[in-house]
Amino acid sequence: MARFENPVSILHPRVAAARRDFVSGRITRREMLFRASMAGAGAMTLAALGGLKVAAQGTPEGTPAATGEVGYSIQVPTDLRTDLGGTSIRAVLADAGNVDNDWHDAAIAKFTEATGIIVERVPGEQSATDRLQNYRQQFAAQSADLDVYQIDVIWPGIIAPFAVDLTEAVSATIGDYLPALVENNTVEGSLVAIPWYTDAGLLYHRTDLLEQYGLTVPTTWDELTTSAQTIQDGQLATNPNFIGFAWQGAAYEGLTCNGLEWQVSNGGGNIVEADGTISINNEQAIAAFERAAGWVNTITPQGVVNWQEVDTLNNFVAGNVAFARNWPYMFSASNAAASTVAGNVGVSVLPMGSGEGARNAATLGGWNMFVSTFSTKQEAAIEYTRFMASAGVQRSFAIEKSHTPTLVPVFDDPDVASAQPFISELRDVFTGGAVARPSTPTGENYAEVSAVYYQQLNAVLNGSTTAAEAVANMETDIDGIMSGL
Ligand code: GLC
Repeated sequence: MARFENPVSILHPRVAAARRDFVSGRITRREMLFRASMAGAGAMTLAALGGLKVAAQGTPEGTPAATGEVGYSIQVPTDLRTDLGGTSIRAVLADAGNVDNDWHDAAIAKFTEATGIIVERVPGEQSATDRLQNYRQQFAAQSADLDVYQIDVIWPGIIAPFAVDLTEAVSATIGDYLPALVENNTVEGSLVAIPWYTDAGLLYHRTDLLEQYGLTVPTTWDELTTSAQTIQDGQLATNPNFIGFAWQGAAYEGLTCNGLEWQVSNGGGNIVEADGTISINNEQAIAAFERAAGWVNTITPQGVVNWQEVDTLNNFVAGNVAFARNWPYMFSASNAAASTVAGNVGVSVLPMGSGEGARNAATLGGWNMFVSTFSTKQEAAIEYTRFMASAGVQRSFAIEKSHTPTLVPVFDDPDVASAQPFISELRDVFTGGAVARPSTPTGENYAEVSAVYYQQLNAVLNGSTTAAEAVANMETDIDGIMSGL
């Protein structure tokens, strides 16, 4: 499948300024288009700008279809050190084809301009599972090759022994970070990583297709199943590749995120509870997994058993998907100029299951800035992590790439709210409502526990085991891991 490449759109500065004024509510769409045309914008640009849509009736329906110069909204903190100029560090950030990379390069350029520190951006693995394996190899080899790592919210308990304590680095602003994330990242009194952006699973839909088929945003999984089938049946007449519902079913960390949402929303518990009880073997989790297995080969193609987030994104921006489960970044990526669905994207909380304890559930995800104890340039590395996790940079990552902040004041920023209305509308989900994977009760064993879970669940999805067998196997194997067997 062709990768979705984020276009680096280079707009005339006056067009970009008009676009910014529109997004922040200072001028009307008409004025923006007029100013853009006066600046000599071509028909394509004007068409793209015309596609800008602001939230309607509580449901965000699109952010900029065209971006300004990438990185335009970055505000460089004023307290960065300037005495480390000429130091070169290496930071492992997004994967090679990631839609954020143009922004990363712009951010690095601003950081270097302010500090003189040179940052080489090193692409990481796309899958969180593969990436952890690579990071573990780096640490096992005591490698000084990489100075800064972006680390997943589920890893502090695993990689704490290799972390520089960043408590001092953010002491001035620590009270502004979401307390649950600071707690998550603190291991034995050390701040293992600075919270950088937060993630929560969301339901995306095509506003134009819901309208065309006279449907509303589904609030239960059963309703989603029926609506996805209706739209898929209709669209298949003209698009043989059409998919009712796209999600992540490959055997990797992303499936743990999807699976947790299915079972928690169905009252099926958190796999391993906060007190260490292994709760996975229960009827409501079985029912949730059976429902998901029923999507395969009906509203979702069989290939989903190999899909990660990028596959969902690629299919969605190609216009082949009615509903999708993905993280916040897809809102910006699917409204970018190269997306065929720009302006027709809605986002909401994921649906509820059924039975006792049914609720809406979003898995908590997110990434953090970490400095390796094996780095020989820790001071420069710390400055870069402070920069990346600062308010002015988080604000920009939210405005331009729809990454949800970890700093409470950034949620209140009016430019964030106008560029990405869903961030304020779903604020409760991002600031405490999302469900954590059991990385705290399982500690350093989390990755192994998650691997058992996603492998068994993947087997249910591909039909090689039943949901009842899978949860029994999960229970036995997780118990073995936790007892050190
Ligand atoms: C996103 C989340 C991360 C999660 C991963 C799974 O990157 O932020 O927490 O582990 O997806 O694919």
